This record gives sequence, C-alpha cells and structure tokens, in this order.
Amino acid sequence: MTQQVFARIAGTGSYLPEKVVTNDDLSKIIDTSDEWIAARTGIRERHVAAEGETTGDLAFHAAVRALEAAGVQASELDLIVLGTTTPDLVFPSTACLVQHRLGAHGCPAFDVNAACSGFVYALTVADKFIRSGAAKTALVIGSETLTRMVDWTDRTTAVLFGDGAGAVVLKADADTGILSTHMHADGSKKELLWNPVGVSVGFKEHEPNAGVRINMSGNDVFKHAVKALDSVVEETLEANGLDRHDIDWLIPHQANLRIIEATAKRLDMPMERVVVTVDKHGNTSSGSVPLALDEAVRSGKVQRGQLLLLEAFGGGFTWGSALIRY
Ligand code: COA
Repeated sequence: MTQQVFARIAGTGSYLPEKVVTNDDLSKIIDTSDEWIAARTGIRERHVAAEGETTGDLAFHAAVRALEAAGVQASELDLIVLGTTTPDLVFPSTACLVQHRLGAHGCPAFDVNAACSGFVYALTVADKFIRSGAAKTALVIGSETLTRMVDWTDRTTAVLFGDGAGAVVLKADADTGILSTHMHADGSKKELLWNPVGVSVGFKEHEPNAGVRINMSGNDVFKHAVKALDSVVEETLEANGLDRHDIDWLIPHQANLRIIEATAKRLDMPMERVVVTVDKHGNTSSGSVPLALDEAVRSGKVQRGQLLLLEAFGGGFTWGSALIRY
C-alpha cells in the first residue's frame, strides 16, 4: 500500500517595498479621505514598489526569507510556482527569473495567473505535485506590483491596492501538512473586475474607459466575493468532516475588512482569531495571503499543530481555499 504524503509548510517569508503611502497621502491627490477609506475597506496605508522595483524583486526577497526559515537551500528545490497577475515580463515567467536569482537551476518553474487567488491556486498546484510524488521540496510564492496598473486619478480603485510578496517552502511529510485545497472559477463575470489590455487583444485601449488599469464594479465584486467565500469555506469544512469551531486561524485574502468580517461571521469566529493585515498592506492580490500567513507565523500567533483556513477571491472570477495543519 502506498503511504499518503502531505505537503507541510516548512518555512514562510515575505517582503514589502519600503515606501508607504497613507490614506492622508492619497487624499492630497484625489478626492478621498482617511475616514472614507478606513470605514469602507479597513485600509489605512499600503506599500508601493520603488521605480524599477519589480514583482520578481519582491518575490526573490520573500523567497530568500522562506528558504532561511525552512532551513532549505535553493539547490534542494524541485519545483517553483509563483502566483502573479503583474509579471515582470510577458516571458520568461517571473518564476524563471526568481529561480535564476536563487541559483535553483533545473527544477520546473512557472507562473500561475488567478488574479487575487494566485497564491491559493499556486499552493494547490504545488500540493498536487508533492502528493503525487512528483516533487519533494517546493517553493510557492505570491508576488505583485498591482500599483503599476492602478489609475491614480480614479478614487474608486486607487485607494484599494498595494505591493508585496509572500512565500512558503513546502516539504513532503508523512504525517501532516495541507489537508485539502479547493479551487473555482467563473469566467462569465470577467468585466466586473479586469484589466482589459494584453498581447493578443492589443496593448492599446479597445473599449471606452479602458486602458492599462484596473476596472472594477466594486459593489458587484463585493457581493460575489462574500457569496463565493461562504460557499468555499462550507465546502472545505464538509470535505474534511469538520465543524466551523475546529479552525484555529482564518487567514483570508486581504481585500476589504468588511468581506473578511463576513467570512469570520459565517465561521462564528471572533476577529481575534482572524489574521488581518489589510489595514497596513491594502490589497496585494496574490501577495496578500502569504504575507498575512508569514506575519502570523513570525509574530507567534500561529503555532505548530494548529488548523489554518486560507481563502481568496479575485478577478476571473477565481476563488479557492486551503485547509492546513501547520
Ligand atoms: N473616497 C471617497 N468617496 C468614494 C471613494 C473614495 N476613495 N470611492 C468611491 N467613493 C464614492 C462613490 O463615488 C459613491 O459616491 P456617490 O454615492 O456620490 O455616487 C460613494 O462613495 C459610494 O460608492 P460605492 O461604490 O457604493 O461604495 P461601497 O460601499 O461599495 O465601497 C468599495 C466601494 C470599492 C470599497 C467596495 O465596493 C469594495 O470593497 N468592493 C470590493 C472590491 C474588492 O475587494 N476588489 C478586489 C477583489 S479581489
């Protein structure tokens, strides 16, 4: 009989660009206020990448920290999966650029684009590789420079996003690790949250009000996010035969505090057991969940043996979750 293998989180790391932009800073360039942004989103400030600082740079620093925490050499990696929707280049993938910088030659390296669900999707892919025996030691990164596609004159989106990266090193383990992952997508709602430019459709504007920038129907996205996250949380508990009170920590995608609170309420979870970083980071898309996880690990909140529920929702729409015995 073949023995079951789990992907255990051996180490976490994260990286934020130095520059911090507060709500007050934004209120000097657009018609907004700290009160409005904080009340509607929970965001107080966000980090913004310096000129020339790329998604790959942030990813590299987060990866170095995760490898250090795991006590793993880059040469031991046999898989790198990177979630991003803001790659450095069209190709090669940002994962390949990071692989080279880490000195991890030869192992497969590729990007996953699932917008804000990028890290959960990437983690799921790496989990499948490890469970199947195709990899033993994997690096999973979520990294974004979303502010590069923010229209700083549009107050409905400019206040929401930030830059950052997080990473985990997964190792094959006979006892415990990622217990289940769940991924979904619905391409029919693409116009509610999108950046409608690209190589194949052309880089120039092709729709009224479009451009190299995020377009979003905030209200609709909010409603879809709450509904989809409710359903994936339910699915995760059911798949594992768990009661909602069994979860030690909810580590959600950090888009909006009100969305996070709705999921916590569904789980009957006090906010003290929910990791919240949206106030300091804004929405860092694929970076948000691993950034929150790393912060919770390094601050001593999350302890070995605890049960963690990670979830995310993003453009596509995409959404997903991971249940992890840490
Ligand atoms: N500052 C001040 N006023 C603003 C503003 C800002 N930054 N952005 C919008 N407003 C105004 C609107 O123009 C509108 O004014 P009006 O009533 O005169 O037309 C009013 O505030 C209300 O706008 P509305 O869009 O209804 O607010 P909301 O409560 O839905 O909050 C979001 C807007 C974007 C914060 C909210 O919808 C949201 O967070 N949605 C989800 C977004 C998200 O998470 N996206 C990523 C998913 S991964």
